[in-house]
Amino acid sequence: MNQHQTIPAFQPDPDRPRALLAACPVYQPTEILQLAGPDGGPLLVKDETNRMNLGAFKALGGVYAVARLIDEAWVAAGHAPLEPQDYISEPVHSFAAGMTFVCASAGNHGIAVAAGARIFGAKARIFLAKDVPAGFEARLRERQGAEVVRAGDTYEQSVEAAKLNAHETGAILLADGSWPGYVHPPSLVMEGYTAMAEELREHFETSGRWPSHVFLQAGVGGIAGAITHMIRANWTAQPHIIIVEPDAAPCLLESNKAGKPVAVSGPSSNMGRLDCKEPSIIAHGIMQRCNVEFELVTDEEAAEAAAWLGRHGLATTPSGAAGLAGLVKHGGCPLPLIVVTEGAM
Ligand SMILES: Cc1ncc(COP(=O)(O)O)c(C=O)c1O
Repeated sequence: MNQHQTIPAFQPDPDRPRALLAACPVYQPTEILQLAGPDGGPLLVKDETNRMNLGAFKALGGVYAVARLIDEAWVAAGHAPLEPQDYISEPVHSFAAGMTFVCASAGNHGIAVAAGARIFGAKARIFLAKDVPAGFEARLRERQGAEVVRAGDTYEQSVEAAKLNAHETGAILLADGSWPGYVHPPSLVMEGYTAMAEELREHFETSGRWPSHVFLQAGVGGIAGAITHMIRANWTAQPHIIIVEPDAAPCLLESNKAGKPVAVSGPSSNMGRLDCKEPSIIAHGIMQRCNVEFELVTDEEAAEAAAWLGRHGLATTPSGAAGLAGLVKHGGCPLPLIVVTEGAM
């Protein structure tokens, strides 16, 4: 098969997640802060440290994808499509009670899927590799009521365990990564993330101060891919886009060089949520099409960036601070934008 047959298109409709979010009582656009950056120049920061009280931007994708998959099952059962207010009705909750969502996670995607399942009345089973911090496991069980299964030494092994479990139990696999033959659920997750790109676009349209460079950290590439797609689709002023990966897991950079999705190997990284050795094929396709640059950062650089953000009032982790680490390494950006993707644990 040639590349065009294997790399899926990404054609999101950002109005769909926004319609659902508008009905969500805890939704509001997150803030864009303006700080003096480490080099003394201006720095725009999209603060995702407490998105929808779930601690990370991932809430935008997993919760939305659960809602859409419930809607699709509801329609397949012969009902009319759901409107946002229908999701909390008793018949829809009873229907969703028969659905179990399964995924692997480095932490935040699992919380988003489990929160979606809890809100809409379904069940969630989340697979975590051995190094995923215990804090995520506690939040999954205690706050989101999810079943948690520890599986595998690496993120990729937990993905395999989740796939097998969904296959054996008939549960719905809701991964944030994508691979040949598996693109619909992750494309819904990424459609959810487009809501953040629209918040940014609307803010810059009002302020008139568009960023010159946008730094997007990547694990499998879902968030970076979704935002990159939207920037190239509808932003008035086009920035440089820099995809930031741990030097221990440069799967999107290496795939971009190879012109096809490739897996990488390497040690584990302190950027746990970015430590993915295989790219989402949807994200890879977007990066091939959208003229992006790459920056790799070390564990030390990410830790320093997290410490700098902490001193400036944004408590985060090396994963959350990786965009800043990429900016520091890149240098020379008149008006950079970073996304602090999660709060400190
Ligand atoms: C805090 C944080 N930042 C960035 C990412 C990277 O997102 P993606 O895997 O969609 O590239 C994740 C993924 O889990 C995350 O939790």
